Amino acid sequence: MKVLGLETSCDETGLAIFDSEQINSDNQGLVGQVLYSQIELHALYGGVVPELASRDHIRKLVPLLNELLEQCNMKKIEIDAIAYTKGPGLIGALMTGALFGRSLAYGLDIPAIGIHHMEGHLLAPLMGANPPAFPFVSLLVSGGHTLLIAAHGVGQYEILGESIDDAAGECFDKAAKMLGLPYPGGPNIAKLAEAGNPDAYALPRPMLHRGLDFSFSGMKTAVHNLIKDTDGSDSDPQIRADIAASFQHAVVDTLVKKCVKALKQADMSRLVIAGGVSANTHLREMLEAELAKINATVHYAPPALCTDNGAMIAYAGFERLQAGQSDDLDVSCVPRWPMTELPAV
Ligand code: KG4
Ligand code: ZN
Repeated sequence: MKVLGLETSCDETGLAIFDSEQINSDNQGLVGQVLYSQIELHALYGGVVPELASRDHIRKLVPLLNELLEQCNMKKIEIDAIAYTKGPGLIGALMTGALFGRSLAYGLDIPAIGIHHMEGHLLAPLMGANPPAFPFVSLLVSGGHTLLIAAHGVGQYEILGESIDDAAGECFDKAAKMLGLPYPGGPNIAKLAEAGNPDAYALPRPMLHRGLDFSFSGMKTAVHNLIKDTDGSDSDPQIRADIAASFQHAVVDTLVKKCVKALKQADMSRLVIAGGVSANTHLREMLEAELAKINATVHYAPPALCTDNGAMIAYAGFERLQAGQSDDLDVSCVPRWPMTELPAV
C-alpha cells in the first residue's frame, strides 16, 4: 500500500510516501519525502503567525506534491491512500492539508484518513530498522507537548504524565530568545551548549519528586534571572555557552529522571522518544547511559523524523488504513485532541 502523508499542523509543509511493499533491510517503507520550512517567513515576528502559515501551506502544497512524485518516479494514480494531519495544531494550517488531502483522495477515488499529529511523532521511531515492540513507554517532547505515555499498541495510549504549563520545546525556544538566539531555539541552544560547562550554574529540576507531570515555566524564570545576573544576553561567549549548557542539562536531567520513574511505574523496559526535542544529542546520550543501569533500552528516529515531517503521518496512516480505518467525506480538524480518544487498532 502506497500512502501519501501530508503534515501542515504548524510551520512545516511535509509530504512523504510510505510504501508497505518496500519494507526490507535497506528501506523501511519510506520511499520519498519533501519538507518546506516556513521558519524564515516567521522569523521577523519572533514566532509563528497562524494566518501567514496557512497561506504559505496553500502556496506550497501543489509544487511540493509534484516534486515528491518526481522524486519517487510515481504518478498520482499510483497512490493508494492519503493520510493528513487532522489535529492538534493551528486550525487554519490544519485545514489546508486536510482539505487538499481529502479532495485529492476524492478525485482519485481512494481512502483518506485524518491523523493525530502526536501519534505521528509517537510511531515515527517504528519506521526504522529493528523497531521496538509494544508495549513501551513513550516520551513525546515537542514544541507544543510534553507527554509520558504507556503505549500498549497503536491507538492504545495511557497518559502517565504531562506538562502542567510550558512544553519542553517551548522552554528551549524561550530560553533561546532570552539569549538572543533565533527560532527554533532547541538546535541553537544545543549548538551553543557544545562549548559550555553543564555544571556551571545550578538551575531547578522542577517537580522531580511529584509524580510524572512536568512544569517548565519556573525554569524559564530561572534562566531569565541567570541572564540578568550574568549579563548573559550580550556578555562573554563563555558565559553564554555555560548558560546554554546548564539550561540544556537541567531540562534533559529532568526528562531523564521522569523517564526512569515512568519505566519503573509501568513495569516496562523499552523507552521510545519522539518529537522535536528527541533530536537532542545530550538527551539521547544521557538516556542511553541511565537506562543501561536499569536494563532498559531507548529507541528513537533519525533527527529528520523527530521534527515535523510528512513521513510520520504517512506511516501512522498506513497503520490505521491497513486495519480498515478511514474517514468519510466531511473534514473536521481539531486544534485540541486528547490522544486517549483515539480508536485502537
Ligand atoms: O515536533 P516539532 O518539530 O514540532 C511540534 O510539534 O511542536 O518540535 C519542535 C520543537 C521546537 O521547540 C524546537 O526548539 C525543538 O523541538 N527542537 C529541539 C531540537 N530540535 C528541535 N530541542 C532541543 N534540541 C534539539 N536538537
Ligand atoms: Zn510536531
